[in-house]
Amino acid sequence: MATDSAFATFLDRLARTALFYSPLRHFSLYRYRYAFSPTQLGALIALVDEARRAPGDFAEVGCYRGYTTAFLNRHLDEVCPDRRYLVIDTFGGFTPASVNAEVTARGKRADDRAFRKFTVNSRRVFEATMQLNGIHRVDIVAGDVATVALPPARRFCFGLVDVDLYAPSVAALNLLWSRLSPGGLLVVDDCQANHVYDGSRQALEEFARAQGLPFEIRASKLGVLRKPAVP
Ligand SMILES: C[S@@+](CC[C@H](N)C(=O)[O-])C[C@H]1O[C@@H](n2cnc3c(N)ncnc32)[C@H](O)[C@@H]1O
Repeated sequence: MATDSAFATFLDRLARTALFYSPLRHFSLYRYRYAFSPTQLGALIALVDEARRAPGDFAEVGCYRGYTTAFLNRHLDEVCPDRRYLVIDTFGGFTPASVNAEVTARGKRADDRAFRKFTVNSRRVFEATMQLNGIHRVDIVAGDVATVALPPARRFCFGLVDVDLYAPSVAALNLLWSRLSPGGLLVVDDCQANHVYDGSRQALEEFARAQGLPFEIRASKLGVLRKPAVP
């Protein structure tokens, strides 16, 4: 709530006090929501700054409720306000086909709670979050990254792949790489060892090998794959 007048401050105090003593207290307190540590957020900013030397927009495949989208876009407001930012998400969690592939081809347990995460979400919640944060450059594509179609001319300098499982990570890498400008880079989250979402690391390893390119791991879990600049 804006508190730029005495009345607004009074209302803010009233609402917060009521919330604090209600069963909704949980929603009224500041809570660190990122799935990235401060060091990892710093690394993401450094990678955005490196990527923006190449032409094209920014992309995030797997944006959930928009926490990292809001964070990165506040940075883009300062450093390159004219570029667009595309997000792709089912806005309902993992597809049955992706989970089935983890179980049948990767030996995971079908009843793992990790496969039922991210279902409490919607495109409307994401849009409202962007609006609340004054972010207006985000284009939203709702759907499975394996089947979405992008306008042919769309190019990117940076892509964050954060869909956790093997199959959607492969699909996101193929989609974004085909649109990535030379000099641009892709970041794949959850590339740490021994993690329930180890499909993202496998997807990156296989994709980098197929391209004949090295990848690096930044800040413990961010896999980075760069498209060589044209000499
Ligand atoms: C770890 S969350 C993303 C977190 C977000 N990047 C952040 O930092 O706040 C993973 C997201 O991937 C989405 N997702 C999973 N499978 C997908 C698919 N096949 N296509 C598109 N989105 C998918 C889920 O709906 C979920 O919102």
